[in-house]
Amino acid sequence: MRISIERKPLEPITAGAVVAPVFEGRRDPRFGAGELFDAGEIAGKPLEMTLLHHVPGVASPRVLLVGAGKPEKFDPAEMRKLAGAAVRRLKSIGVKEIALELGAEYASGDYAGAAVEGAILGDFEPDRYKTNDDKKSVDSFALACAAGADLEAAVERARIVAEAQNYVRSLVNEPANRLTPSNVADAARSLAAEYSLECEVLDRARMEELKMGALLGVAQGSAEPPVLIVLRYRPPEAASSAHLGLVGKGVTFDSGGISIKPSDGMEKMKYDMAGGAAMLGAMRAIGQIRPAVAVTAFIPCVENMPGGRAQRPGDIVAAMSGKTIEVINTDAEGRLILADALVYARQQGCTHLVDAATLTGAIVVALGHLNVGLFANDDAMRDRVLGAARATGERMWPMPLEEDYKEYFKSAFADMANVGGRWGGAITAAMFLKEFAEETPWVHLDIAGTAWLDDAKPYLAKGPTGIPLRTLVRLAEEWKD
Ligand code: BES
Ligand code: ZN
Ligand code: ZN
Repeated sequence: MRISIERKPLEPITAGAVVAPVFEGRRDPRFGAGELFDAGEIAGKPLEMTLLHHVPGVASPRVLLVGAGKPEKFDPAEMRKLAGAAVRRLKSIGVKEIALELGAEYASGDYAGAAVEGAILGDFEPDRYKTNDDKKSVDSFALACAAGADLEAAVERARIVAEAQNYVRSLVNEPANRLTPSNVADAARSLAAEYSLECEVLDRARMEELKMGALLGVAQGSAEPPVLIVLRYRPPEAASSAHLGLVGKGVTFDSGGISIKPSDGMEKMKYDMAGGAAMLGAMRAIGQIRPAVAVTAFIPCVENMPGGRAQRPGDIVAAMSGKTIEVINTDAEGRLILADALVYARQQGCTHLVDAATLTGAIVVALGHLNVGLFANDDAMRDRVLGAARATGERMWPMPLEEDYKEYFKSAFADMANVGGRWGGAITAAMFLKEFAEETPWVHLDIAGTAWLDDAKPYLAKGPTGIPLRTLVRLAEEWKD
């Protein structure tokens, strides 16, 4: 999608459609719409759509009025949705060129960036494998902004971020037969070549040398070899001594292993690499934006399968740190592969860590599909991530992490068990990870409820969401010691 800024009002622009936000309680007489307000046909409610044709004085054949809600509630997150909903509505009727009005009040980088993100994210369809559909997409999106502010940098940044987010969504949507751990490693290598990053892929032999017993135990049931992907970004001149580590769960398919999952809905478990994909996408954007802090992504990638060589409940494995784990349930595999990746990230010099993982069904019970569950061993680190999340419109909710929960996953035969029983499942999983993050300031993001949209929204297609890419990129950009 081509993105541009037009320094003019909507009327003279020639596009397939021009889009004007209209607000609740603000009668807008333009485009002959005053009567529609008076008749109550337009109220300006969020995402309400009114399509007008051949409006006198407007060069484009269509004007789409989109409800923006109450002006005092309108923020960049609402703008993102509005632009996405407008794009989705218009492309569904075959419109290819769109211009959206950015009124004088909203002529700032925050709103312009959010509108561009919304448009690019709204245009995405997970239709790669549809052969007969007439696939609809928008060719160009312009921001019409007659007011003065310099928006170029914000728009370019937004394009980079949203395209990276769509890249994450397309990776997550790849089925497990078409995206194995080795294929994810190939994707990381091409990213590195294209965006000036350094890529290293640790294979099974190297992981054996490093004694990554927890990760290797999960991988042993699959015919697909595991990889630990390392992607490095180094700033031209590091303004900071910090080194941010991004660790993402990369289970290309989670059958549950010997503790096999019920078949109903199992197809969705191709998304169990959404945390890893978000880290790849974040590095893609970071490679282009080039912030001042060093960032390294670590993506442990495996397929969790049952089979003659699979690990069994009761097996005891030793993680790279030396701690031993009794594998009570082979379906609690994410924490096992992350344990070794966290230890490795610390050994590689990371001073701060963020991990993202589709880790537990329990976080979906706790927070539904609206908020990422956020766990932290350090208040300052928690606040940094929460701040970045808020600024980018990704919702996250802080969850407790207290030593007492360790009781839940004690083992009679090893240092710990890999599950903590029925209650507080998202918390015990996070507590388990903390055993491996140790004292390094660390945030864990459980994205099991938010990485996949079960039903399309007016502004977003069904399927992968690409969360928490925007937060991660913002965190790196805004890093200050
Ligand atoms: N990938 C799943 C988490 C998951 C489960 C995401 C359901 C979305 C829906 C994870 O590996 C897993 O299976 N977790 C188990 C842990 C349990 C065995 C302690 C879970 O949440 O059921
Ligand atoms: Zn599992
Ligand atoms: Zn899993």
